Amino acid sequence: MSEEAPAVPRHIAVIMDGNGRWAKQRGLKRIKGHEAGAESARAVLHSAREAGVEVLTLYAFSSENWKRPQDEVQGLMTLLPKMLIKHERILHDHETRLRVIGRLHELPDRARKELQRVMDNTEAYSKHQLVLALNYGSRQELADAAKAIAAKAQQGSLNPEEVDEACLAEHLYAPDLPDPDFLIRTSGEQRLSNYLLWQLSYAEFYFAPEFWPDFREDAFAKALEVFQGRQRRYGGLSA
Ligand code: FPP
Repeated sequence: MSEEAPAVPRHIAVIMDGNGRWAKQRGLKRIKGHEAGAESARAVLHSAREAGVEVLTLYAFSSENWKRPQDEVQGLMTLLPKMLIKHERILHDHETRLRVIGRLHELPDRARKELQRVMDNTEAYSKHQLVLALNYGSRQELADAAKAIAAKAQQGSLNPEEVDEACLAEHLYAPDLPDPDFLIRTSGEQRLSNYLLWQLSYAEFYFAPEFWPDFREDAFAKALEVFQGRQRRYGGLSA
């Protein structure tokens, strides 16, 4: 691990916060905020690709978001396949592979099938990846990893003595991804909200003031500048 922040983060994780407040300020329904937010996702995907970022992970729906009013949950679950159909071309143009982390099997059929279709269609792209955290919770992910490890230990294919950090990391939802270097959360809120707790251990955090629907190319460029001004020490000392 180098102390200097690389010019461009390999992996950026984003908490797209503030869609509801953006809509409320305009007297619109919350789902309109999510629709505008989906356009920001498209803009940031484009900017990240142009900048040379390899992996972009977007928190699109947390395992706690089911608690929201039914019309909002349904609206999001309808918006998702619509966005995939509308924007699949962009993934091909950017040679970007779509992946999902989270309990995909619990999503409504339509959303799940559309996601699977686009994931299959983009599977061959290896250099750039768009990861959607969907029905995702970091504690659930860690519990799922612990369960998989325990099952292997019970079957005798894994010695409990061999369970270490690397073993746990190998049982996460997307073990091959590099850890995020940079976390962006919009709307001024400063919380992790059960997002990538293990993977963000050494990430740089940036809290942008804009609501997510207002976070477009310029805001992303500013965030990258902030990252470039950071010095990463990974628990060591600066030179
Ligand atoms: C948080 O804002 C946003 C979400 C829970 C959903 C994010 C979803 C999208 C941007 C649309 C789909 C995106 C893709 C990539 C397909 P909030 O609702 O918590 O806002 P608030 O805090 O102002 O209420």
